[in-house]
Amino acid sequence: MKTALLITNGFLISKKFDEIYGFLENAAGSRDVRLLHMKNNEMIFPAENAGDIRPHVMNLIRKKYPDVSDIEFIIFWDKDLFLAENLEAAGFKLYNSCRAIRDCDNKALTYNRLRTGGLPLVPTIYAPMTYSNIGYEDTCFLKEVGEQLGFPLIIKECCGSFGMQVYLARDLKEAESITRLHQNVPLLYQKYISYKTGTDIRINMVADMPVASMLRRNPDDYRANITIGGHMEKYDPSEYEISLARKAVGILGLDFGGVDLLIGENGARYICEVNSNAHFKNIYDLTGIDTAQYIIEHIMTKTGA
Ligand SMILES: Nc1ncnc2c1ncn2[C@@H]1O[C@H](COP(=O)(O)OP(=O)(O)O)[C@@H](O)[C@H]1O
Ligand SMILES: [Mg+2]
Repeated sequence: MKTALLITNGFLISKKFDEIYGFLENAAGSRDVRLLHMKNNEMIFPAENAGDIRPHVMNLIRKKYPDVSDIEFIIFWDKDLFLAENLEAAGFKLYNSCRAIRDCDNKALTYNRLRTGGLPLVPTIYAPMTYSNIGYEDTCFLKEVGEQLGFPLIIKECCGSFGMQVYLARDLKEAESITRLHQNVPLLYQKYISYKTGTDIRINMVADMPVASMLRRNPDDYRANITIGGHMEKYDPSEYEISLARKAVGILGLDFGGVDLLIGENGARYICEVNSNAHFKNIYDLTGIDTAQYIIEHIMTKTGA
């Protein structure tokens, strides 16, 4: 029996997250992998740990699981990039990799990574960086943003989830006030894809394989997220949609992830965002497809098991 590690965030305490961990643990068990579970707040490294950090990591794991001799791979179901980087530096193989998680977690980085790939992206401009003690006294750049993207436009915090950090600005005044209100965090501006507002397509990918898909539709909001009231519908992605998702995860170097597409006029599709830790419980409820099984299968193939 192989031993692997699941890393999650110790501050996210919710049934929704526990369910995901349960799916991964079950899928690992069915492939004869013992999946240990550590949280990022249980992995406090010694302050002075120059040199090889792998023994320190093993010591931390053995505090909780004394009988462990080695770890074959790590499923990193979190966005704690410092921890991810340290674990890779210690020689562990992370799924997803630190870089892929970083580039997906930050929507501006995702855009930068994907823009050269010939993919249809939502026209995007990121806010010029300011300092938290200064903020955006001067919002002149928003005139240029407005001219390029038109109004209404979408404003997003670069790092956000569940639609909670996505805003709609109807005019320049609203764009200014939303920008000032969020001046302590990186922001980006996007063209509002209004054709099928409140609707998006989610394709869960494992390597280059589309394993489960859904259409999300929210009749009451421009954000399709289920948490905000979006409803799920079964959806068979077209070859074109699959090709976009495949290309996006390929460029980002994701082993698994969720690609969100927006729908434009005349069959147009736009990549909205790519999630490195795409929740798959909702899609399981809708389709009966257990993405975790595919994730574990893929990792086992990659590790030669
Ligand atoms: N540029 C856009 N135009 C129209 N709707 C958008 C746009 N960007 C996001 N949305 C809507 O908002 C939802 C949340 O945005 P998204 O970028 O996926 O952020 P999150 O990471 O919070 O899910 C999307 O699923 C989509 O329904
Ligand atoms: Mg999303």
